[in-house]
Formats: sequence, C-alpha cells, structure tokens
Amino acid sequence: MGRLLITGGTLLDQSGERRGDVAVDSGRIVEVGPALPPVADDIVLDARGCVVSPGFVDLHVHLREPGREEAETIETGSRAAALGGFTAVVAMPNTDPAHDSVSVVEFVRAQGRRAGLCEVLPAGCITLGRHGEQLAPFRELADAGVTLFTDDGNGVQDAALMRHALEYAGPLGVTLAQHCETVSLTGGAVMHEGACCSRLGVPGWPALAEVLMVFRDIELVRLTGVPMHFLHLSTARSIELVRAAKADGLAVTAEAAPHHFSLTDESLAGFDPVFKVNPPLREAADMAAIKAGLADGTIDAIATDHAPHAPHTKELPLDQAPPGMLGLETALGLSLVELDMPLADIVAALSWKPAAIAGVADRHGRPLVPGEPANITVFDPQVEWQVAPGALASKSRNTPYVGRVLRGRVRHTVYAGSPVVVDGVARR
Ligand code: DOR
Repeated sequence: MGRLLITGGTLLDQSGERRGDVAVDSGRIVEVGPALPPVADDIVLDARGCVVSPGFVDLHVHLREPGREEAETIETGSRAAALGGFTAVVAMPNTDPAHDSVSVVEFVRAQGRRAGLCEVLPAGCITLGRHGEQLAPFRELADAGVTLFTDDGNGVQDAALMRHALEYAGPLGVTLAQHCETVSLTGGAVMHEGACCSRLGVPGWPALAEVLMVFRDIELVRLTGVPMHFLHLSTARSIELVRAAKADGLAVTAEAAPHHFSLTDESLAGFDPVFKVNPPLREAADMAAIKAGLADGTIDAIATDHAPHAPHTKELPLDQAPPGMLGLETALGLSLVELDMPLADIVAALSWKPAAIAGVADRHGRPLVPGEPANITVFDPQVEWQVAPGALASKSRNTPYVGRVLRGRVRHTVYAGSPVVVDGVARR
C-alpha cells in the first residue's frame, strides 16, 4: 500500500488547532504540513470541512463474545467502534466465560486483531467469575497485558475484598474500575427511584446506591493510595464526591455515558425497555451535573457503555428485559449536540484522556506529529444526520435515539495506519 494523505482538514490535538495535512506510511505519521503534495500511489482522504484528531478511545463497551454472539461479536462491535471514530475500545468482562483467565483475554484480543478495525483491550475481572468472592489472578492477567480491571455489570460489594484488590493492583501498576451499585438498595429495580418511578408504580434504583459505593471507594483510595476509575457515573452527588476527592489530590478518574447526559427517567413513561439501562437514566438535575462535571474536568472521559441486546430480549416486559443500550455510533453526535464545551475539550474526553486511563497512551490519543502511531479520526462537526437503527453496524438494534437528529459524524477512521472507515463506510 502507498502512503495515506489526509488533506484539507483542521488538526486538533493536545497542542490545539491548526490547518494541516497528514501523511501516513507503514502505520505511522510521517509528515504534517500546511499543504502536502500527493505523490504517486498515495491514497487521499478528503478532510475538507472536517476535524482531524487522535483516534477516540472508549473505556466501556460490551462486545458479548464469547457467549452472546447473537447480540454482538467482536467483529461487529469493532465495526461499530470504527464507524464511531474509536481506534481502541475496552471490552468489559461480563462475557460467558468472563475475562478472569489469560486464555479468555487472549481470545478476545485475538478476535479483535482478526477483525482489524480497532484495538480491542480486554478488561480483566476483579473477582473470579465476577462473583465478588475471590480475587482474579491479577498478576497473570497483568503479565498478559491487561491494564484495567473491573467486575462491570456488578459492583464489588465487599469492602475488605475491594481494599485487597487495590492493595494487589497498586504494585502491578494496573487500574481498577468500579461499577458503583450497592445491590442491597437496588433489588428488583427497573428504573431511577424518583417521581416518574412512583407515578409508574415500578421498583426504583435510588441514587444513593451509586453514591454510597463512590464514597466508600474514594475512602479506599485515600487509605491505599492506589488509583481508581469510576464507571458510568449517573448522579449529581457522585460527581460532587469525585470533585472533592480530586480537590484533595486523590488519584480518582471518572467517566460518563452519552445516554446519561442526553436522556432522563421521563423517557420510561411509556414502559419501553429500550430506555432501561444500569445505572438508570436519572433526572434533569443529574444530567446538568454530568454536563458540568465534563465541562470542569471532574469527569475525565466520555465512555459509551455500548450494551447490545438481541431483539427478543429487549422485547420482554420492562421488569424482565436486560438493561443496556447501543452507544458506539452515536457518541460523537450526542456529545456535539448536548455538551456546551470547547470542541477541544470534547475531543480530549473522547481521546487522550481515556487513552491515559486505559493505559494505552503510548499508542492511542497521541499528538498529530511525525513519528507517532497513526490512529486518527476525521469527523465533520457540522453535518446533521438522523439515527436509523437499520443503518447501524452493531448486530443489535437497541438504540434509544431512533429518529433523533444528531450533529457531527465520522468521515474517516485510520487504525494502525490503515483506512478502516472511508467516507463513512467501513472497509472491513
Ligand atoms: O446497562 C447496562 N448494561 N449496565 C451494565 O452495567 C451492564 C450492561 C450489559 O452488559 O448489558
């Protein structure tokens, strides 16, 4: 293959914005300049009207393989990721079997390599089988390249076990990430506990169930000095706690999902399971707090919690349907519509900040300068488009945004130097 030449765009990275072309060869950026002349065999990617940025990194996706390939596979999920501008995704461990052994994480990584659409980074389990009883083999998993550990889908309920997990993780230099849910408060819950839930007469998931675990884990970080990442924060009070912890100098980071800053619990008034998610959609004040938390950097990253579910499961009644919604292909458009933040800060929350949390800042979210690995996203920040589930690459259809008009869409994605999405079409 010849060089790739990305022409006519506005470059946006850690050092700011400038006009420029980018030449890529053998997986790396080889030249950056105001108007690079194409040479024979160059593949030219037109970036006029577009922003050219370091590739996005999603800290939170469910790819379902192994175990629930009818909902998603690593290949279909990777394709959705590439179309969403992601060059790396952290695959959550709640598969069957779970990511608690080297053989499973190596399988997931190999399937990611086979698909070749983005880097798939398997998160390891904190506990065996995600059962919350015995620690997973951290050292073996870390030696096999796992950088982030979580029982996502479950929070670690036992405070002593979580303390030990932090004490083991610290010397290994890996990051623990918590799904904050105190289950003694959420049994049978189908949605946020609030006025809407009372009106509908269904069991509620109180904000307190998240807040208590965020509080406990912040204190565990204070005690152990080991970093911790908070997954999909959904309540105003959790964000206040993280803000105070950061002010105290504690090593905590946090993410928020686009559905938590674009939808409220009122969406469930029609009992439609497509709006059921864990943690649940909250109230307008929580949504405002998440936006404020992203704007002031309390929340470091935008992470999708892409959670595909096969249609026959999402067609069950609200109390029986599984929680979760698609996110990879709508994250950028929702962020640009909903967040009143400088574009550079939105891109930071989608790219280099999550790259650092995932432990892949050596190859993702890198500045656009010669010598760097070519993981690059080219997006049109102005183009409007309407979400149509049939047009999504995911194997599942459970998007809550059907018919919604978004602004901002990926035009090209370059992963490891290869153009995996060109003009909005996946090439693999
Ligand atoms: O809504 C959710 N879906 N939240 C989770 O924590 C798990 C996820 C899933 O795996 O479907």
